[in-house]
Amino acid sequence: MGAVPVIETEELTKVYGDQTAVDRLSLTVAAGEIFGFLGPNGAGKTTTLLMLLGLTEPTGGRVRVLGLDPARDPIQVKSRVGYLQENMGFYSDLNARQMLAFVAELNGIAGGPAAARIDAALAAVGLADAAGKKIAAFSRGMRQRLGIAELLIKEARVAFLDEPTLGLDPDGTLRIMELIQGLARDRGMTIVLSSHQLNQVEKICHRVGIMIKGRMVAQGPMEQLAREKFGLGSEQFTLEEIYMKYFLEA
Ligand SMILES: Nc1ncnc2c1ncn2[C@@H]1O[C@H](COP(=O)(O)OP(=O)(O)O)[C@@H](O)[C@H]1O
Ligand SMILES: [Mg+2]
Repeated sequence: MGAVPVIETEELTKVYGDQTAVDRLSLTVAAGEIFGFLGPNGAGKTTTLLMLLGLTEPTGGRVRVLGLDPARDPIQVKSRVGYLQENMGFYSDLNARQMLAFVAELNGIAGGPAAARIDAALAAVGLADAAGKKIAAFSRGMRQRLGIAELLIKEARVAFLDEPTLGLDPDGTLRIMELIQGLARDRGMTIVLSSHQLNQVEKICHRVGIMIKGRMVAQGPMEQLAREKFGLGSEQFTLEEIYMKYFLEA
């Protein structure tokens, strides 16, 4: 993990009508870091990720991803940044291999190198045996793993994962979390992960941020947040306990 900020926002704000979805957010994520983005439903997590991706324009403030402004350089940002959407669609008639070939093509990778990269990605996420199966018949967990294979195909430097374990069983959740951990550890990918699976987040995230009603009320390593809320010698508190304390006091 380096000290180079890969993601930086200052006073980043998004207003919808009379509602402030993201309120003056200042966030820094370093290279190779897994940042756990926590908060109740409606807190503004997805809206933040959309602004980081250049998919929605900020109302105010500043945002940089890999030194680029996503609103000004959307194509450059999208070529380096992967995104696993909340409620991944995949209403596709394609099979897994065809889908990854499509992703490779979109990213300018063709021929032999594409085929090799697709095989490697399918194997890495445990979908080698399902390569010829239609995505429409995939389970939720398989779809999420295919989404991770897409990140591998495009060799994303940064990945935004919006509730990738939503609706998964404990085994599926663990598998996804281990894959995510591997993306950072083995490939140096920088990851922002939103999730309600606090016991898993606690295991794989280097730092967490807690967003409530559009405001980031805490940001840092878990030990720091525990100290802020519970005082010295508070290492025994779980992330769930820390989160609930911030939540109830917000
Ligand atoms: N396109 C939109 N138009 C109007 N309001 C929106 C839109 N997207 C999100 N919001 C509102 O912004 C707030 C934050 O939503 P969201 O970013 O989806 O939260 P989270 O991902 O943390 O659940 C919510 O109150 C939501 O209703
Ligand atoms: Mg959301």
